[in-house]
Amino acid sequence: MKNITLIPALSDNYIVYFETNDGLSVIVDPGDASPVENFLKKKGEKLDVILNTHHHYDHTDGNLYLKDKYGAELWGPVYEKNRIRGMDKMLEGNVSYKLGGEALDVIHTPGHTSGHICFYFPQSSVLFAGDTLFSLGCGRVFEGSMEEMHSSLQKLNLLPDDTAVYCGHEYTLSNVEFATFLHPDDHDLREELNSIQKKRDKGSPTIPSSLAYEKRFNPFLKAKTPGEFSRAREAKDNF
Ligand SMILES: [Fe+2]
Repeated sequence: MKNITLIPALSDNYIVYFETNDGLSVIVDPGDASPVENFLKKKGEKLDVILNTHHHYDHTDGNLYLKDKYGAELWGPVYEKNRIRGMDKMLEGNVSYKLGGEALDVIHTPGHTSGHICFYFPQSSVLFAGDTLFSLGCGRVFEGSMEEMHSSLQKLNLLPDDTAVYCGHEYTLSNVEFATFLHPDDHDLREELNSIQKKRDKGSPTIPSSLAYEKRFNPFLKAKTPGEFSRAREAKDNF
């Protein structure tokens, strides 16, 4: 894939644009149509495929407008087919699809929503993690159990270190503040807090991160057991 671009939307969402090597234009999680429309004006007014990780409005509200305007196909989780309107292709976990010429591995990651999926592109080493894995954090557990969310994160933990991680929100500063609260003696983490603070002061994104980075610093990905995960998640909910 090429030309991966973050399109900031709503208050703290990231929509992602990319092109497959054979020329398909793809958008991930368009929570709002207008920033995508503005972006596509500069890109030749072409959109072939929309990917959705889960049904929340801030990931899907732009779907129907963009489908209609550009004739794009909407691909999303089969598990949420009754909650996402206009889906053209239903995707299942543990299945490898083709998008353009490229393999797209779908990973079912219930917890934030029960049908949430993540998109892993092994040839490009790119993960679109939606609201399952954030940089230094994870999504709130709205529809699944703590056990499910822990096991979903552990599925992502198996991906290679060099995987670029694109997530659905710019929550990294709040996440690193929580992580340093949990691990006050981790000096490397404290340095990360400073560098993330600087990036955000300049309005720069902290996304993408890498899976190696998340494996080293993300307290939710590092939680070995569902109990450990659950304690961290509940502490973050009240942080
Ligand atoms: Fe969400």
